[in-house]
Amino acid sequence: MTVNGVGVAFSVNGVAHRLEVGPGETLLHTLRERLRLTGTKEGCVEGECGACTVLVDDKPVDSCIFITAALEGRRVRTVEGLSGDGALGPLQQAFIDYGSTQCGFCTPGFLMTLTALLEENPSPSPSEVRQALDGNICRCTGYRQIIEAVASGIENGGRP
Ligand code: FES
Ligand code: FES
Repeated sequence: MTVNGVGVAFSVNGVAHRLEVGPGETLLHTLRERLRLTGTKEGCVEGECGACTVLVDDKPVDSCIFITAALEGRRVRTVEGLSGDGALGPLQQAFIDYGSTQCGFCTPGFLMTLTALLEENPSPSPSEVRQALDGNICRCTGYRQIIEAVASGIENGGRP
């Protein structure tokens, strides 16, 4: 697809892309509508709910308010990048084992925020986990199961 705009080169889950993007195109739109990576969810589209969280250069961002034109040379990771060879990543599996996902709409955003946290701090305290999740909203789980899943990952070596 061609858009009258600027060319931007970046990677998503290790795959290089070069796209022409308009000045207001969001990363959420780029991922879902142009790259067909629909694991990243569209919630509030106002930077409030965290459903759209992805990692840019290892930091969580709300992709609904992140402008794709600012991605030149940067690395994006999405929930699709957490699994490999058809197998779930350890944190994804822990979410299933601990009942940390119910409707599942918020789950990709939580997984990406927690991936960043665990890469930076392999043994976060429960309060550090809660603080990291400040921008992620879940209407179903009550958060307890999510924090338990993170704790199980810590027991298994602290890697997401
Ligand atoms: S959809 Fe991006 S923060 Fe809610
Ligand atoms: S599992 Fe439904 S919003 Fe979190």
